[in-house]
Amino acid sequence: MKESRLGFRPMLLEVDETPKKWLVRVIPEMNTYHVGDAIQFMRSLPKGSVDGIATSPPYNKAFRNRGGHKSNWPNSKLMAANYAEFDDDLPPEKYIRWQRRFLREAQRLVGEDGVILYNIGRSIKNLNEDRREKIVKDFPIRQTVIWNRGSSNNQGGKHPTILPPIYELIYIIAGKKWRIPQQYLSEMRKWGDVWHIKFETGNPHPAPFPLALAERMVKLIDGVVLDPFAGSGTIGIAAERLGYSYYLNDKTEEYKGMFEKRLANERGMRNGIQD
Ligand SMILES: C[S@@+](CC[C@H](N)C(=O)[O-])C[C@H]1O[C@@H](n2cnc3c(N)ncnc32)[C@H](O)[C@@H]1O
Repeated sequence: MKESRLGFRPMLLEVDETPKKWLVRVIPEMNTYHVGDAIQFMRSLPKGSVDGIATSPPYNKAFRNRGGHKSNWPNSKLMAANYAEFDDDLPPEKYIRWQRRFLREAQRLVGEDGVILYNIGRSIKNLNEDRREKIVKDFPIRQTVIWNRGSSNNQGGKHPTILPPIYELIYIIAGKKWRIPQQYLSEMRKWGDVWHIKFETGNPHPAPFPLALAERMVKLIDGVVLDPFAGSGTIGIAAERLGYSYYLNDKTEEYKGMFEKRLANERGMRNGIQD
């Protein structure tokens, strides 16, 4: 397993000895799935303590069928899937502000030599207005990768007004000192910036990464990896497979269970036993 480049060990106590206040911070355990709010979790990690963040936040899809509430799109398979503990339905401007807060916190954690791999789809409510640009405005975007998911559940109904949206973006947001890690360089040269990776179907989480996509993201990071919106923990599985240390976090306890099951399976496979 790789160490944090700052050499942090799990559960270290950090003491801030500024004259005005004493702050004792318990640094969260590495290679563990934490449950809580993404930004609060990130604030509990010291500046510069991860080398890369690979993540996909909720897309503000407004499913609203949780807990007996009806979906806005009851006939859509895509819209029928829902997160366990929240509606994913913020007012658009609030969603943008939240995601910008997240990106600022992410920058604090990765510093000048780290990277943020930020996957986000379009707004479902309004395909024309690209809110992604508003979210990432003024952040140091090194490159934008197009992820071609192969097909879409959104076929636009009987009288479609749109073509099925099949791509998402992965923003590579990086400080000046970030470089593509040498280890997988020959492999990366073949990827280019359009990735054809079929969306995941065999995962009970409503919006998981395909493992192949998560592996590419992790390979772009040179050290400790964080996914603060971890869901079923695909980034953690990729990190485990590739021998990286990681932090995972999600607000939903149920998804931690999904990850732990996958991790046990992954380790079992390595030892020749499968669930
Ligand atoms: C697009 S999914 C991520 C899926 C993940 N990439 C995977 O492979 O399973 C977004 C996740 O964000 C979580 N989430 C939503 N609001 C959150 C918050 N405030 N803090 C932490 N996690 C949150 C949801 O529970 C959901 O699992």
